[in-house]
Amino acid sequence: MADVVLKVQEIQCGYDGVPVIHDVSLEIGEGEIVAMVGANGAGKTTMMRTIAGLMNPYRGSISFEGRDISRMEAHDTIKLGISYVPEGRRLFPKLTIMENLELGAFISKDRKAIDERLERVFGLFPKLHDRRNQVAETLSGGEQQMVAIARGLMSNPRLLLLDELSLGLMPSLVEKVMEAVVAINRSGVTVLLVEQMVQEALEIAHRGYVIQTGRIVQQGTARELLNSPEVRKAYMGL
Ligand SMILES: Nc1ncnc2c1ncn2[C@@H]1O[C@H](COP(=O)(O)OP(=O)(O)OP(=O)(O)O)[C@@H](O)[C@H]1O
Ligand SMILES: [Mg+2]
Repeated sequence: MADVVLKVQEIQCGYDGVPVIHDVSLEIGEGEIVAMVGANGAGKTTMMRTIAGLMNPYRGSISFEGRDISRMEAHDTIKLGISYVPEGRRLFPKLTIMENLELGAFISKDRKAIDERLERVFGLFPKLHDRRNQVAETLSGGEQQMVAIARGLMSNPRLLLLDELSLGLMPSLVEKVMEAVVAINRSGVTVLLVEQMVQEALEIAHRGYVIQTGRIVQQGTARELLNSPEVRKAYMGL
């Protein structure tokens, strides 16, 4: 594996003192797409929120590019280069695409840099450029997901955390969104993707982890997991 960008070591975290993640460890190498897959309630979003700093682990540690971020808050991890695209998109519905994207760049005051990032995300998603003055709530589900990803890129992250991109999208759109993730990754961004749509996620990932009730139960290359009888039976209905 290339240089380790994110290293999560035996973290425990949860809500109101009740752990829902139990001693989870994982590593993401520079340039990888890593998928964390698992069923409803397995703890995927909790893992993402903890890495992003929206909540802190009860114990264990998280480091990003060699720096301990276990106790850091989200407004600081974003400055270090971690961007979290939350489950359910969470756009500002009454604001335009352009306004939503500008808000994604709130940590930067450098107008020129922001314009360059806009140009880059519009390069990735030309359709968003055509509709840049349309308010978010009038966009289709697929378009809204593109805006959410594009907004996540506006902070110029080196690690992009993508939570359940496929939620509520029809299969043809899921495929489009996954293609966009591959393009983003090729442009130099390391990606952690969590998904209930196990096959779709593993098809674009390099490696993966299977999470079940807050524990990693399987890990390997994406191909190993796609070929695993346990994974196929439990998550692909095969
Ligand atoms: N705000 C909260 N307060 C208390 N418990 C929570 C909270 N959010 C999640 N949980 C619990 O934590 C566990 C993991 O939930 P989490 O949302 O991380 O799962 P998930 O894998 O993202 O599920 P999904 O695929 O449905 O998004 C679940 O048992 C859930 O009920
Ligand atoms: Mg979730």
